[in-house]
Amino acid sequence: MAMALEKQQLERIAQFVKNRIGVALSQEKLQRMSRRILNLMQELGFEDFHSFYHAIRFKKDEKVIQALLNAVTVNETYFWREHEQFTLLTQTILPRLILSQKRIRILVAPSSSGEEVYSIMMAISEEKTLLEQAEFEIIGIDIDSAMIQTARQGVYGKRSIEKLPPSYLQSYFEPYQEGYFRIIPEFREAATFLTANIFDPDLPHKLGTFDIIFSRNMLIYFDMNDKRRCFDIFAKLLKIGGYLFLGHADANGIDKTLFKPLGLGSPIYRLQKAL
Ligand SMILES: C[S@@+](CC[C@H](N)C(=O)[O-])C[C@H]1O[C@@H](n2cnc3c(N)ncnc32)[C@H](O)[C@@H]1O
Repeated sequence: MAMALEKQQLERIAQFVKNRIGVALSQEKLQRMSRRILNLMQELGFEDFHSFYHAIRFKKDEKVIQALLNAVTVNETYFWREHEQFTLLTQTILPRLILSQKRIRILVAPSSSGEEVYSIMMAISEEKTLLEQAEFEIIGIDIDSAMIQTARQGVYGKRSIEKLPPSYLQSYFEPYQEGYFRIIPEFREAATFLTANIFDPDLPHKLGTFDIIFSRNMLIYFDMNDKRRCFDIFAKLLKIGGYLFLGHADANGIDKTLFKPLGLGSPIYRLQKAL
């Protein structure tokens, strides 16, 4: 086995990843990932690049593809990230929605290891009147199956919870092993986590439609063309009038005739029409 992958080999992997999940890996990032990909090839028992590439590209071996995608995605997340949006959710958006409906569906795409889904559940739980007036369904999806497994287990270390209000640690976690905390069973049972690609054309059929989508810190890894494709997918996954919450660097390229900005000082949009 070679000690490093050649430039052309890395480019072929990058092209494969981009076509499959939209994530555009820069030359620099690819160079840094070379060792990780080589280790993965070795762990999976491939003797050379050619047989590995053949397995993903031509044999379409889903186990190998999943392992590659898990290795190249950036999964950075933590509890209470960009939490001003949770305040807007519970103080402004949900009270509006609740006037006309008693069941609210929320999609978090991507959820990574689950911190965002559980943060939203905490924010809603803090507002007892919301819980009294409506039922909530919350689904997290991510392409990285290892992150989805962590999300389902709901076990987190100190670094993940640093930004969380301390009282929430008391209310929504139970002690686990030294230095770790586990999300309370009620939350783990109520949240649904699925491994899924946002570009899967069957996604709207599999998941149905939502009142709210959170998609934060994924679109920044897509090029403009894939970003636009992704906004179209959100338009299919949202009900008309549904809300799209983006991260601060994600909104570039959004079609404002399709997604109208709410003007609340945060990248939150409302779907205007069906696609
Ligand atoms: C930086 S994390 C963001 C997590 C969380 N939303 C947040 O803001 O903290 C980006 C996630 O996007 C996921 N991802 C990338 N491409 C994806 C795709 N095509 N479909 C679903 N998830 C994807 C990655 O696996 C990664 O976990």
